[in-house]
Amino acid sequence: QKGGFKHFMLKEISEEDEALANTIYAHIFNDKINMDIDEELLKKTDKITIVACGTSYYAGLTSKYFFEELLSIPVNVEIASEFRYLKPIFTQNSIFIAISQSGETADTKESLNLAKSFGVKTISIVNVQESTIARLSDYVLYTLAGPEISVASTKAFVCQLAMLYLFALKIAQLKGIEIKPYLNELMSLPSILKTEFSRLNTEVEKIAKKYANVKNFMYLGRGLSYPLALEGALKLKEISYIHAEGYPAGELKHGPIALIDENTPTFVIAPNFEPLYSKTISNANEVKARNGKIILLSDKFSNIADDFVQVPNTSYFFSAFVNIVPLQLFAYHIANILGNDVDQPRNLAKSVTVE
Ligand code: M6R
Repeated sequence: QKGGFKHFMLKEISEEDEALANTIYAHIFNDKINMDIDEELLKKTDKITIVACGTSYYAGLTSKYFFEELLSIPVNVEIASEFRYLKPIFTQNSIFIAISQSGETADTKESLNLAKSFGVKTISIVNVQESTIARLSDYVLYTLAGPEISVASTKAFVCQLAMLYLFALKIAQLKGIEIKPYLNELMSLPSILKTEFSRLNTEVEKIAKKYANVKNFMYLGRGLSYPLALEGALKLKEISYIHAEGYPAGELKHGPIALIDENTPTFVIAPNFEPLYSKTISNANEVKARNGKIILLSDKFSNIADDFVQVPNTSYFFSAFVNIVPLQLFAYHIANILGNDVDQPRNLAKSVTVE
């Protein structure tokens, strides 16, 4: 059942290449993106509101950078439990997107109902077929991650991100924007993940052994690596029960740097993309000056790193797909070393159907 893996979580991380390929190729034919959504609606979209919880929220937040770069339309990403009690501001041609692996999350469902009550067209990105959120929305885009058993969401995250990128590319295509280079890079990702999984797994396990007794971690990133820092910290908290903070790297000096000492290591997620790379490394230097250890995730080495995970080279906007893997693996290995119930961590449920 676990395919030779000790836990579903590791099995599910190892399946990310296949999940991604299934999700992407279901929508691409002859370099065109097919989605069963009214094209007139997509062409005139002038605002996108994305609502979700937890890891699904971080997938939404990561995609915002790509949407806005590609389409130059505002994208608001909101936490469902907050959004549902707001007075939302929709434009005439707004689209609302709910993201949910389970399709049953109570706050996400109520946010969808709120958007519908304003007459906004709704799209859901869900993994579980025929789930409540899928049934309630005007259009459904299914991620084809397959069943995700482990409470910690992993392969669903990469599929959600891929679906959001595909959706952005679909709108771009309708607007006559050249999408071929982006599409090619998206299609190259499954084989990159397939090739790199076991190397990353071995390297990250070694690093996890070094840090298994640490009580506090910091995660830093800029641009779209910022939501990844939040997701890395969430993964570690939920399965290893270790305190972790995710921050935009530039915010460090506005408070959280006070937490740094020799016992608080920092994950630095720094894709080789200027000026973000140099700025992030300079933040890592500030950590180093306070005796903090640096675990660097990047496609470019820096001697600031105490531990370095070389991630495969991609362009900046696609770096999230490769950087997420070592973050998930690190949380997994720490929790496993600590002897925790990795797939069913304390106090958590796979699907949160109460508010
Ligand atoms: O099923 P959903 O995607 O709506 O679930 C949302 C969150 O409850 C979920 O992502 C949660 O944060 C996971 N345990 C994260 O690993």
